[in-house]
Amino acid sequence: IDRYAVAGNPVAHSRSPQIHAAFATQTGQSLVYERLLCPLDGFDAEIRAFAAGGARGCNVTVPFKFDAFRLATRRTPRAQLAGAVNTLRFDAEDWLGDNTDGAGLVADIERNAARPLRGLRVLLIGAGGASAGVLGSLIGARPAAIHVVNRSPDKALALVESHRGWADDHGVRLGAGALDTPTPDGLHDVVINGTSASLGGAGVPLPDAGATVLSRGGLAIDMMYGPAAATFLNWAGAQAGPNGALRDGLGMLVEQAAEAFLLWRGVRPDSAAVLADLRRQLE
Ligand code: ATR
Repeated sequence: IDRYAVAGNPVAHSRSPQIHAAFATQTGQSLVYERLLCPLDGFDAEIRAFAAGGARGCNVTVPFKFDAFRLATRRTPRAQLAGAVNTLRFDAEDWLGDNTDGAGLVADIERNAARPLRGLRVLLIGAGGASAGVLGSLIGARPAAIHVVNRSPDKALALVESHRGWADDHGVRLGAGALDTPTPDGLHDVVINGTSASLGGAGVPLPDAGATVLSRGGLAIDMMYGPAAATFLNWAGAQAGPNGALRDGLGMLVEQAAEAFLLWRGVRPDSAAVLADLRRQLE
């Protein structure tokens, strides 16, 4: 039977085994999907052993997405752009590294929330690994503009510069700045929280929680899911009003998994059904 896993540290609370098991049942694919807890200094050895044992691929989560990038012998363009890999496929001749996080985020916004990004103004808060993983795919959806702000503005600038050519190709205006200037050109239609600020107790990552950044009827999404996203979404929801859309990261999680499943199995699962089930279980 074909084996897969999610590799990370920690992985005990990962929902990926449950999501992929649901995809497998749904599509009639025969596979097992486990958790692979890797020592912080032993990712390569763990993955090599897993692959040598006949496994077909793995998802990779914190803090190993850069190690996985290095370990891949071939990379998809979107992984190359992200500089990080969340999905490995062990082929006979090489190890393919992909990054499905951005496609997952875009699918959640455009399909699950029914908000096409084309022509919209987007604010991306954060310039760490999570934001780097999704910026390329956001650009690919051709919004009018994406403004990236970060506590360390230099990192936002570097992230934007590494995507400049890709953005020019897609006609997307890119900007970068500090957290205290989130709206240099006016309000945004979409606000994405890619920071880990809520883990440190700061639910709103901007220094001025009184600042308005999101237009009425806009969409806000936090890449975290569950209670960790609540403060940010409440804050954004007050700006968006009754016609706004608020998403935590659960949809993105299921959609990035669906993209990985497609890469491994050649079949696209019905992610919306699995998301609805998972949401019910968490409530
Ligand atoms: P991840 O892989 O989750 O993105 P990371 O690469 O460590 O983790 O990035 C964390 C992000 O959250 C960064 O953008 C970080 O800002 P800095 O680059 O300035 O460190 C941001 N972040 C973390 N805590 C924050 C806080 N209290 N307020 C605002 N931003 C915060």
